[in-house]
Amino acid sequence: MIFLNWKANGNKNLIEEFKTLNLNTNFVVMPPHHLLSSKFGTITIGSQSVSQFNNGSYTGEITAQMLSDVNAKYCLVGHSERRNHYKENNESLSKQITNLINYNITPILCIGENSAERQNNTYFNVLNNQLSICRKECIIAYEPIWSIGTGLIPTNQEIIEIKNFIKNSYNNPKVLYGGSVNASNIKAILSTEVDGTLIGGASIKVDEVKQIQQIIQNR
Ligand code: PGA
Repeated sequence: MIFLNWKANGNKNLIEEFKTLNLNTNFVVMPPHHLLSSKFGTITIGSQSVSQFNNGSYTGEITAQMLSDVNAKYCLVGHSERRNHYKENNESLSKQITNLINYNITPILCIGENSAERQNNTYFNVLNNQLSICRKECIIAYEPIWSIGTGLIPTNQEIIEIKNFIKNSYNNPKVLYGGSVNASNIKAILSTEVDGTLIGGASIKVDEVKQIQQIIQNR
């Protein structure tokens, strides 16, 4: 599965351009919240975040019920940008996961170490801690922070090491890789037999998504 995280980018025109690609159900578009209720045709949609709260007096929040209302099938939980900018932690993330499960939305729990943690070999501890809130309904997205938006990607061996670690420790969940994935490296990344990828920067480039679609079809 290929998850396209538009982050705080995109508009109604981009949706129209994406509709011409005829993306199949292997692709999930994750637009900013205000676009979630637009007409996506047959495109599967997901959300980039959800509130830890349910409906009520929480100004500015989007709840799991609201996501269910617009037919979002997946939702990111704990993307490193959310952990960093909005101080999301295991406590609030765990509530988000519960809310999503209650509305039958698949949580995609994002985990990943920073470059210091990779270099001083503490990354397994970091990942273990982030994984401690995993539930059987979750998909795990391994996104090393040092790889997001940098063009740096782990070696296939490094991806396989983490994928096996996650699958062996937590009831064999689906594992995605994310971080600087694009049309020129996705084939090599998928050869590690991860279950899919989470794509940021390249996901708002229609031509690039088209190339990715062709690569997936020809596998
Ligand atoms: P990137 O972002 O593809 O731009 O590295 C990935 C992500 O943040 O999910």
